[in-house]
Amino acid sequence: VRTLKVALLGCGNVGAQVARILIDDADALAARSGARLELSGIAVRTIDAPRDVELPRELFTTDADTLVKDADLVIELMGGIEPARSLILTAIQNGACVVTGNKALLAQDGPTLYEEADKAGVQLSYEAAVAGAIPILRPIRDSLSGDRITRVLGIVNGTTNFILDQMDTTGAQFSDALAEAQRLGYAEADPTADVEGHDAAAKAAILASLSFHTRFSLDDVYCEGITKVSAADIASAKEAGFVIKLLAIAEKIDSENGSGISVRVHPTLLPREHPLAAVRGAFNAVFIEAENAGELMFYGQGAGGTPTASAVLGDLVSAARRLVLGGPGRTETTTGHVPALAIDASNTSYYIGLDVA
Ligand code: HSE
Repeated sequence: VRTLKVALLGCGNVGAQVARILIDDADALAARSGARLELSGIAVRTIDAPRDVELPRELFTTDADTLVKDADLVIELMGGIEPARSLILTAIQNGACVVTGNKALLAQDGPTLYEEADKAGVQLSYEAAVAGAIPILRPIRDSLSGDRITRVLGIVNGTTNFILDQMDTTGAQFSDALAEAQRLGYAEADPTADVEGHDAAAKAAILASLSFHTRFSLDDVYCEGITKVSAADIASAKEAGFVIKLLAIAEKIDSENGSGISVRVHPTLLPREHPLAAVRGAFNAVFIEAENAGELMFYGQGAGGTPTASAVLGDLVSAARRLVLGGPGRTETTTGHVPALAIDASNTSYYIGLDVA
């Protein structure tokens, strides 16, 4: 079996979980990829920084450049623009496939990176950059590529959804709900990017680019956060049968002033019966309207180490399959080792035994 070297850049919450899963689930990942995915090193700023996950010390290095140049697959989870951008370009120029979760970089400089990856014939994937664990980018790019998307509505920032939900449920003011989000570890120590809508705007640019086959950057996104939403606004909305959600919206608009795509992030009044109104706490969801498919909704955890690592590893296995097989790889489950069970449904959870006459 071929071995592919995997370089990991960054070891925060998500990076540490990616490293753990690469080590703990090595056999299953090899079976699904068709190659052993060998974690060749983890580039960090400080080797002895405290981390939640215990990882072999010899994997750590501060020399990201050398690590990248010797890798078949590069996972970039450092965040920020530089040195992430230069390291991704080096990886691409060296023929490595890249997996990143860096929404800020993609929203600012995605087009250059996609072009470089196309030129080099390597895969650049970034499912983890939007809505954490939720598989949303590949469905838009692949499954819906034969359809025409007309509108995308997303709850793509868990911190602000938690804050608005707290305000809606308890009547709390913004500042108290934010303090609670910080206490529970949802919001960053500096929550500006969350509450001002910048994080959601970067994700909106990525969603809009894929949905409407046009390259949008952060500058194309109108952005308004939730800092001005008061307890009184929430109460009035509630009384009128609405809930206030911070939505990332990308939609086709045809008006007498012309046609185009509007991409924006702002607090939105949603009817309480809309499926997105049921998205509570720090969860994320993306609601899509397409000409032929109609309405679709994708729901799940939009942040957190393990959920986001799931999206990173999905991209990694898919990139490895392409490297090994020169195509999308096999889709049948020939590598499963779990036997099929012929059992009575009444022994299973969720069985409610309704007889319909
Ligand atoms: N701060 C983000 C959120 C994390 O609250 O959703 C994922 O981008």
